[in-house]
Amino acid sequence: MTFARIAGTGSYLPDNIVTNRDLEQRVDTSDQWIRERTGIEQRHIAPAGQTTVDLAEQAALRAIEAAGIKSTDIDLIVFATTTPDKVFPSCACILQARLGIQGSPAFDIQAVCSGFVYALATAEKFIRTGTSKKALVIGAEVFSRILNWEDRTTCVLFGDGAGAVVLEASEETGVLSTHLHADGRYEELLHVPCGVANDFDAVKAGKAFVEMKGNEVFKMAVNTLGRIVDETLSANQMEKSDIDWLVPHQANLRIIKATAKKLDMAMDQVVVTVNRHGNTSAASIPLALDEAVRDGRIQRNQVVLLEAFGGGFTWGSALLRY
Ligand code: UT7
Repeated sequence: MTFARIAGTGSYLPDNIVTNRDLEQRVDTSDQWIRERTGIEQRHIAPAGQTTVDLAEQAALRAIEAAGIKSTDIDLIVFATTTPDKVFPSCACILQARLGIQGSPAFDIQAVCSGFVYALATAEKFIRTGTSKKALVIGAEVFSRILNWEDRTTCVLFGDGAGAVVLEASEETGVLSTHLHADGRYEELLHVPCGVANDFDAVKAGKAFVEMKGNEVFKMAVNTLGRIVDETLSANQMEKSDIDWLVPHQANLRIIKATAKKLDMAMDQVVVTVNRHGNTSAASIPLALDEAVRDGRIQRNQVVLLEAFGGGFTWGSALLRY
């Protein structure tokens, strides 16, 4: 039996850091409000001209190096993003060319904050069926470009960044199960209300901005993530105590703590980056995973639960033996 195992991780953050104090100068907010309601202290914001693929390229090179392979060994790229460089071609194709790879499939996935879990689940199926041997799975965003910097209810929440993993075919277990869901009825609770085929004038005028009914999204996120934890454990006939690490999507520290509580996990078993990165959408899980792998917290053979909830609504989880 062939499994998909993480062979290497990588991540990249733009140099420019924006603190809560900096945001106090732009909108009617306070460091105290942002910390207490979200856990966020700062976020990285890409300068004009630095794109999603620019961030992804650095993360990808680090993951490829960590996996001990050459770029040309990659035979699949699945790229999760909400903020692509171009309408087309996909970020995956642009990245493929930059990495000097030709011929193998490369495509983008749009599931907003759940994008990385969707991308991992997709790549895992290519590997398990024998279609691919070494997949590059990316989550990368310049979410700052779709923020209204005059809207205090959204601009304080998000940041930019990229994370990547190399997933390879292995006889050893790796990804144990993945669980993906969506419910499009909640479209308007969290969205950018214009696009190429709908009010393109707003896009061209630079007014394609995130709108969110935060409190309603918050309640849905907590309840839904609680349910997906149960679904994932039950599919693997595991107990809460079998999980070594929780690597959650980083939207809000209060949501992360609620999921940890549901799992009876102490916060020192939870990888938290939201304080330093803010919500980087599809990039948040691979950024957190890479940090905990590189600093030695996550060790080989430990059981790691990834979970995410985002616009769509979309949500999902992946359980893996690292
Ligand atoms: O990653 C995708 C999924 N996204 C999420 O999971 C985000 C989920 N939502 C959240 O994280 C939280 O709902 C927020 C952090 C967005 C908001 O926290 P909240 O505790 O739900 O606050 P609220 O929206 O109920 O607003 C409370 C008050 C309001 O004032 P009034 O109406 O009570 O006078 C807001 O206007 O806080 C006000 N407020 C702010 N005050 C200072 C909203 N944003 C700010 C701000 N600074 N930045």
